[in-house]
Amino acid sequence: MSLQGAAGTEELIFYVNGRKIVEKNANPEQMLLSYLRKRLFSVRLTGTKYGCGGGGCGACTVMISTYEPASKKIRHYSANACLLPICSLYGAAVTTVEGVGSTKTRVHPVQERLAKCHGSQCGFCTPGMVMSIYTLLRNHPEPTSEQMIAALAGNLCRCTGYRPILDACKTFCKESVCCQRKANGKCCLDQEDDLFDKEEKVSTRLFSTDEFQPLDPTQELIFPPELMRMSENQPKRTLFFHGERMTWISPVSLDELLDLKAAHPKAPLVVGNTSVGPEMKFRGVFHPIVIAPARIPDLNVVKRMDDGLTLGAACSLSLVKDILTNAISEYPEEKTKVFCAVLQQLRTLGGEQIRNVASLGGNIISRKSTSDLNPVLAASNCMLNLASRGGKRQIPLSDIFADGVGNNTITPEEILVSVYIPHSRKGEYVSAFRQAPRRENALPITNAGMRVLFEEGTDLIKDLSIFYGGAVSTTVCAKQTCRTLIGRHWNEQMLDEACRLILKEIALPGSPSGEKVDYKKTLVVSFFYRFFLEVLQSLRTMDPCRYPGIPMEYRSVLQDFKTKIPQSIQIYQDIEPSQSPQDPVGRPIMHQSGIKHATGEAVYIDDLPSVDGELFLAVVTSSRAHAKIVSIDTSEALKGPGVFDIITAHDVPATNEFYYSDGPEIIFARNKVICVGQIVCAVVADSDIHAKEAAAKVKIEYEVLEPVILTIEEAIKHNSFFEPKRKLEHGNVDQAFETVDNIIEGEIRIGGQEHFYMETQSVLAVPIGEDKEMDVYVSTQHPAIIQEMVAASLGVPANRIMCHVKRVGGAFGGKLLKAGLLASVAAVAANKTSRAVRLILSRGDDMLITGGRHPFIGKYKVGFMNDGRIRAVDAKYYINGGCTPDDSVLVAEVSLLKMDNAYKIPNLRCWAYACKTNLPSNTAFRGFGFPQSALVTETWITGVADKTGLSPEKIREINMYKENEQTHFKQKLDPQNLIRCWNECMEKSAYYSRKTAVNEFNKQNYWKKKGIAIVPMKFPFGLGTRYLSQAAALVHIYTDGSVLLTHGGIEMGQGIHTKMIQVASRELNIPMSCIHFCETSTTTVPNACASVGSAGTDVNGMAVKDACQTLLKRLQPIINKNPKGTWNDWIKEAFEQSVSLSATGYFRGYNENMDWEKGEGQPFTYFLYGAACSEVEINCLTGDHKNLRTDIVMDIGYSINPAVDIGQIEGAFVQGIGLYTMEELKYSPEGVLYTRGPDQYKIPAVCDIPEQFSVSLLSSSQNPYAIYSSKGIGEAGLFLGSSVFFALRDAVTSVRNERGLKKTFALNSPLTAEQIRASCADDFTEMVIRRSLREVRSTSAETMLLHPCVPLTPVITDLPSSHLL
Ligand SMILES: Cc1cc2nc3c(=O)[nH]c(=O)nc-3n(C[C@H](O)[C@H](O)[C@H](O)COP(=O)(O)OP(=O)(O)OC[C@H]3O[C@@H](n4cnc5c(N)ncnc54)[C@H](O)[C@@H]3O)c2cc1C
Ligand code: FES
Ligand code: FES
Repeated sequence: MSLQGAAGTEELIFYVNGRKIVEKNANPEQMLLSYLRKRLFSVRLTGTKYGCGGGGCGACTVMISTYEPASKKIRHYSANACLLPICSLYGAAVTTVEGVGSTKTRVHPVQERLAKCHGSQCGFCTPGMVMSIYTLLRNHPEPTSEQMIAALAGNLCRCTGYRPILDACKTFCKESVCCQRKANGKCCLDQEDDLFDKEEKVSTRLFSTDEFQPLDPTQELIFPPELMRMSENQPKRTLFFHGERMTWISPVSLDELLDLKAAHPKAPLVVGNTSVGPEMKFRGVFHPIVIAPARIPDLNVVKRMDDGLTLGAACSLSLVKDILTNAISEYPEEKTKVFCAVLQQLRTLGGEQIRNVASLGGNIISRKSTSDLNPVLAASNCMLNLASRGGKRQIPLSDIFADGVGNNTITPEEILVSVYIPHSRKGEYVSAFRQAPRRENALPITNAGMRVLFEEGTDLIKDLSIFYGGAVSTTVCAKQTCRTLIGRHWNEQMLDEACRLILKEIALPGSPSGEKVDYKKTLVVSFFYRFFLEVLQSLRTMDPCRYPGIPMEYRSVLQDFKTKIPQSIQIYQDIEPSQSPQDPVGRPIMHQSGIKHATGEAVYIDDLPSVDGELFLAVVTSSRAHAKIVSIDTSEALKGPGVFDIITAHDVPATNEFYYSDGPEIIFARNKVICVGQIVCAVVADSDIHAKEAAAKVKIEYEVLEPVILTIEEAIKHNSFFEPKRKLEHGNVDQAFETVDNIIEGEIRIGGQEHFYMETQSVLAVPIGEDKEMDVYVSTQHPAIIQEMVAASLGVPANRIMCHVKRVGGAFGGKLLKAGLLASVAAVAANKTSRAVRLILSRGDDMLITGGRHPFIGKYKVGFMNDGRIRAVDAKYYINGGCTPDDSVLVAEVSLLKMDNAYKIPNLRCWAYACKTNLPSNTAFRGFGFPQSALVTETWITGVADKTGLSPEKIREINMYKENEQTHFKQKLDPQNLIRCWNECMEKSAYYSRKTAVNEFNKQNYWKKKGIAIVPMKFPFGLGTRYLSQAAALVHIYTDGSVLLTHGGIEMGQGIHTKMIQVASRELNIPMSCIHFCETSTTTVPNACASVGSAGTDVNGMAVKDACQTLLKRLQPIINKNPKGTWNDWIKEAFEQSVSLSATGYFRGYNENMDWEKGEGQPFTYFLYGAACSEVEINCLTGDHKNLRTDIVMDIGYSINPAVDIGQIEGAFVQGIGLYTMEELKYSPEGVLYTRGPDQYKIPAVCDIPEQFSVSLLSSSQNPYAIYSSKGIGEAGLFLGSSVFFALRDAVTSVRNERGLKKTFALNSPLTAEQIRASCADDFTEMVIRRSLREVRSTSAETMLLHPCVPLTPVITDLPSSHLL
């Protein structure tokens, strides 16, 4: 069959939310996400969000329902709309978040509970969460907690830390939500009664389940009967969809498929599109024809045979998972070893959305080295049933990797029909292993499949297969090793030889993703060792006398870490009984937009309807780190379809460079580029696709300039810094060093961090058409600077630029100056073209262009006494600022001011340098220098502990601020609440008894170790100068009594508008429902300061209160006259008396100052305190870890909204876990960022949060400086994530102590599995290092870690002469 013979294009028929769609010109290149958002009905369905476009974040999750006429079954499954071609939806029903429920119809219980359990903050991930939970409930109305947690593995949230989302989920689960264990003799549900402090009553309820509507499955949308009829009655025929560039062919029989493949051998078969889709989107691969074989029965067969299973190649991985799960329950154990091993990999392969669409055949045939299935299927002797016009044949799956590159066994005309998976035999053992940067939903670093068959009744190896993935470009087999070992006994000698042979045979080049070769090699042998232990233990069941199994202390390593739904408790001070029931202050009020987040009705920038004539903008960025621009050739780009114009620096009417500090911030590069990712020019076109296609055609010629400075070391070498450098000195450091008992010196490197706000940077600039006015809708936390930058770039007064922000889908410091530059790009384009211009950065561009948290090196020298008292610290901090100053000097300053964390250091000297490099400019990020400098401090605290032999908590206690004291810059502080937090955390976490239990566990377990750590925190609040904390509000009362409130703060998930409405409600003494917040805008509140530094509620709350009090003062005479009247009566009367019903409120800001010359001042207004205790367990063989438990106690004053504040603490804490243990930015030696999406850059997912998670707010804490005695809470919790870092360090220490390794060792951040593994040196790491030393290693390292968290070279000389067993 050829295209010539093809009929014209078909009508694509499917349903969306119960409505029939007939698409006459379906474009095979169109994914469902863009179709829903841009094309559908007259209304765009914008509830489904773009977060990454590559299947990695789950923001675009929808439910797909299909009908199978043979079985008459309807299948509902979740899928990522961003990878789902619309042509694949023929005959399917799509449900989006809008179809689940809405405020106009009925809010669905999933939506309601997610909102009411406080499961949304910025709300951008929420529709995706709703859809994952909803789909699960459609299939399992009373799911188990295991099913629930699995359903969310593919959904990322950057704000909440997942706990409240899981709380909502638990309300649907059948099982009890109790912690199941009685820690301290108590269950989490019993605790509340005991929480009545002597004086204070505390509460543990953030929501009430009584309010929830029941889940009623009968209320759901039914599967469209028309689609059922279509499916049952219409004969299946081949479908053709012809697009502008691509044709989609969906045959219905194997014969047709073989014809098509013969005619178009290069055309890929697309089933789930999870491999082809990302290649086309991100790697520029194009296919003019694709063949979709999913409807062919032969490719969907499920056949049980006497000796195994045959599964069609188009079976989804979820279906394979279900089939294998059933088979395991039905067959005797002996026969199911292969099935179990395959299932093991399927559990963590991708998220559910991926497994639901990705096909078995696709995973096998794409032959990626990262396939989790190929190693285990190959090792298990699985067979492939292939077919082509030339005939059918069956080959061992392992043959497809036989050439080492995996590309010559299957001919282009051949297709995979099905896969045969055999039963295991008596005496046969099969296992599969994987280690990934995150336990779930992450491609593996290395994986393996292994199988051994013994001579009957013996441990003599009859057959052995070992396959690895992730190692080189395809799956590889340790063939020689296996051959050599046949006939050997399964014992330690065999193991030793096997490891050496494997290391020799499996050649591993460095990988672009940057994992160290040595780590992969260590995994390769560690996996085999694990297999060795597993088999040894299994042999025991055969003959316990001959095969005694493995020692008790080795057994725990046979258990993989499992993700469980966490148990959690939140404790906060209850409101006074005397408080009016209407007064919302202090109550856990739901986020004002919670329900709208959950229904998808909350509007973000890219959800705004298109403006007439609107253009889309795509940026063209530099591919060189430091170079002269020789020429820009736009000719090809301008010829592209729909291209309107190209915008360069020459089109900027006025300011292209902004000087806020030492060096310019630049809109468009002019003449030269200073980092990879700098914006050189921009294309505007009639669609985002056309704009992006044209942008790729702009040719820029460069002449490389020297030097190219990328790292902190290179900056130091070239003396490349932003000015001023800062220094603080206190006491007499040099003298103190002469009197101390001990001195340690060290260094820690802390990697940068990507903000990974779920909504990428977005702008819509709309020229009004008169007086040079322009509306700028932008996702920013600082509208005033957007207005200022846009006005300056256009050369118009600020009063012509109206900047509007309704809400922001997460910011964390990343949407300040960078958003201003991007808004200027869009505004310049809008000005030039006189058209509205929309700029929505792709995730990849956002990560490439906008910078993040500063990579940091802290060098320290610490002098202390033998009793643990620290007398002197001399430190130098270097931060990698990138190519422009942004806030780098400020970040360096703050890192100095906050470096003491919770400790009184009598003699202290510290320098901070902001390095100027050729990386994208780094910027503000939650915590602003504190998370790095306090980690340095806590690192030398543990160093002092190691040296003195005292415990880290003792050193912490000894040196902690104790009474009214002064900081190192002479600011007074009262540390009473710091000590209370510490003591309460000690008590609540049962620290000492758990430490004993950890030690006990460690004695009994060799390959698994636990660690526990408790870390205190003092977090100073302040912005350094008064003018930065001024704020204003505007309150209007309308004659119907309703109130419109606005202020200068930005809602980016932190619940500021909710809190401001609470404030206004208390002040005006009216219900919250009477008060509305519309948007933050430069037209209503001018010159507002940025929403940064945890200060939003403090300062805007004061302004709102001021405005409300002004109004109330005006109303007072009327109220006095008619005290029994209602609010509406008084307002009516006020209007009639010509009393103004509109007022502004103002707050002048905090009196803060810092004199850097003198090194003293009052840069902060008050201090927050906290402490966190975390416990972890590590797997010494892989470096993997599990967060077992965290207890946090925080002093945040009197919480205005405990649900919001606890949400901030938890969210920040989990972001801190990301910073300190997982999130790793990787660059090429040329300065190109590799990690440009969720597939390469791992933020914490649901599997990463502690299994037990408790947060308590310190009661009876007063703060005279902030509204209602509260404290600003947005940032502080992030640093508490370091308790996990130090718990990991504790676990590693225990490994090293047991093995007699060197006591002093350094760990860098993030403390990834790779580093943990390298620090737990053993015979395997020794083997790898010995071998590596022998090998001549290529010097051209492919990847550079700019925050080199170089794993420690294990001190192999001090290894004990340990045995492997
Ligand atoms: C976010 C994300 C996370 C992922 N995580 C993991 C992971 O943790 N572990 C892992 O192993 N994989 C992972 N994957 C990869 C995923 O499992 C594979 O992409 C998927 O299995 C491929 O199946 P598909 O149906 O989507 O393939 P498609 O993209 O539709 O096709 C893939 C290729 O296979 C060929 N092909 C498909 N079927 C046949 C056939 N019957 N005969 C001949 N050729 C055929 C096609 O021609 C095409 O070249 C992930 C992917 C994504 C996007
Ligand atoms: S946008 Fe589809 S998974 Fe991220
Ligand atoms: S609420 Fe989940 S990303 Fe913001």
